[in-house]
Amino acid sequence: MKPVGIFYGSTTGKTEKIVQHIKDQFHNTCIDIYNVKNASEKDLEKYDNIILGTSTWGKAELQDDFKKFLPVLQNANLKGKKIAIFGVGDSSKYPVSFADSIGIIFELLEGKGVIFVGEFSIKGYEFESSLSIFNNSFVGLPIDEDSDCELNKARITMWTDMLKVNLN
Ligand SMILES: Cc1cc2nc3c(=O)[nH]c(=O)nc-3n(C[C@H](O)[C@H](O)[C@H](O)COP(=O)(O)O)c2cc1C
Repeated sequence: MKPVGIFYGSTTGKTEKIVQHIKDQFHNTCIDIYNVKNASEKDLEKYDNIILGTSTWGKAELQDDFKKFLPVLQNANLKGKKIAIFGVGDSSKYPVSFADSIGIIFELLEGKGVIFVGEFSIKGYEFESSLSIFNNSFVGLPIDEDSDCELNKARITMWTDMLKVNLN
């Protein structure tokens, strides 16, 4: 598989921890990790395979660093690139906006000629609504480090196994 660039934003370190778990699943692949605080359009454009991940804060709002990164994401030439998104949230405390970050990023990139990979079943998640559901599936992987901690390992393995087949 070609190298993968993972770009993440994290306030309390939970998304950062998940990035490491995701990286650990790819044994024979070059994985480069970027905190979006220090990432540029050039960094994004280096990769044919990109994973984007961040948490949801406020109501339907992206994590602060990722919010500031949006112009970079929008201006980068991402045409033809495979993109997978994951989002970290809390389904017990924020059931009506669970892991909205995935859907917000997805919508922002729609129409830019990217190829989305890594949609994930809603089965097993308990929440009321999320901006991250299209055609009855999550358009990326939701991770709940606050309420569903024990399920995350299996979800990450399932998701990365899919990515190994679908990334370039
Ligand atoms: C003020 C506040 C608002 C939040 N809003 C949401 C939300 O709308 N939806 C959600 O799924 N999680 C929400 N969360 C939960 C965070 O996304 C969650 O704790 C996440 O693990 C933080 O990850 P990070 O440390 O990588 O930023 C919120 C947390 C706080 C403290």
